[in-house]
Amino acid sequence: MQALGIDIGGSGIKAAVVNTTTGSLASERIRIQTPPGAYPEDVRQALAGLLEQLQWSGPLGIAFPAVIEKGIVRTAANIDRSWTGMDVRQFLQIEGRGPVQAVLNDADAAGLALMRHVPEARNCSGTVLVITVGTGLGTALFCGGRLVPNLELGHIEVHGTEAEAWASDAARRREDLSWEKWARRLSSVIETLENLLWPELIILGGGVSKKTGKFAEFLSTRALLIPSPLQNNAGIIGAAEAALTPP
Ligand code: BGC
Repeated sequence: MQALGIDIGGSGIKAAVVNTTTGSLASERIRIQTPPGAYPEDVRQALAGLLEQLQWSGPLGIAFPAVIEKGIVRTAANIDRSWTGMDVRQFLQIEGRGPVQAVLNDADAAGLALMRHVPEARNCSGTVLVITVGTGLGTALFCGGRLVPNLELGHIEVHGTEAEAWASDAARRREDLSWEKWARRLSSVIETLENLLWPELIILGGGVSKKTGKFAEFLSTRALLIPSPLQNNAGIIGAAEAALTPP
C-alpha cells in the first residue's frame, strides 16, 4: 500500500510517497521552505503546490508541529497563532487532491514510525522516549508499544529556561553555538526527562539525527540512546502510515 506523507515543520515542509508495508520511501523526498511566519493560508498554498508537483491524489497524512486533538490545532509554538482552534484536517483538504486522512502531532508521527520499523524500539518492553530536534523540540512517549499522544515535553523548564528555546537546533543556529556547547544543553534536557520518565530507550530524531557524529560524545544518558535509523524521514513515514491506519 502507498500513501503520501507530509511533515510540516517550522522551517521546512517535507513530503514523499511511502510504502506503508515496509516503511520505506517510494518516491524522492521533496522539501520546500515553510512560508515565513507559517500563516495558515500560505501553508495551504504551499501544500497545494507540493501536491501539484507530485501529481498526487491518493490518501495522505500530515504531521503537524502542534498539539492536535481530533483534527483540531490546540497549540502554536513555531507556527502562527491563528492556527489555534482550527480544524486542520478540514482546512488542508485541497480540491481535487487528497483526501487528507489523518493529521497528527509531528513527534507522535515520527515516534509511531520508529516504533513500527526499528527493532530496538519494537522489541523494547519498557518506556521509549523519542525526541525530535529541529526548529522545535518534539517528544513522543511509548509504554508497552502504546503512544501517550501530544506530550509536550520540549516546553518544560530546564535551568530556568524553556528547554526548546535553549536546546533546539534552532537555538544552536540562532546563538551560533558549537556542537559541544549545544549538545551539553541537550544532554541536560535529556537528563531532566530521564529523571522524570526513566525510559529504557531514547531515540533522537529530527534534522540533527544524521549529524550525531558531531556531538554524540557530549551526550550522557542512563538509557540506551540511538539516533533515528529513519533519520528525518520518520515524520513523513508516520504521517503516511496514519493515513491508512489512523493511530
Ligand atoms: C511543539 C510540538 C512539536 C515540536 C516539534 C514544539 O514547539 O509544541 O507540538 O511536536 O515543536 O515540532
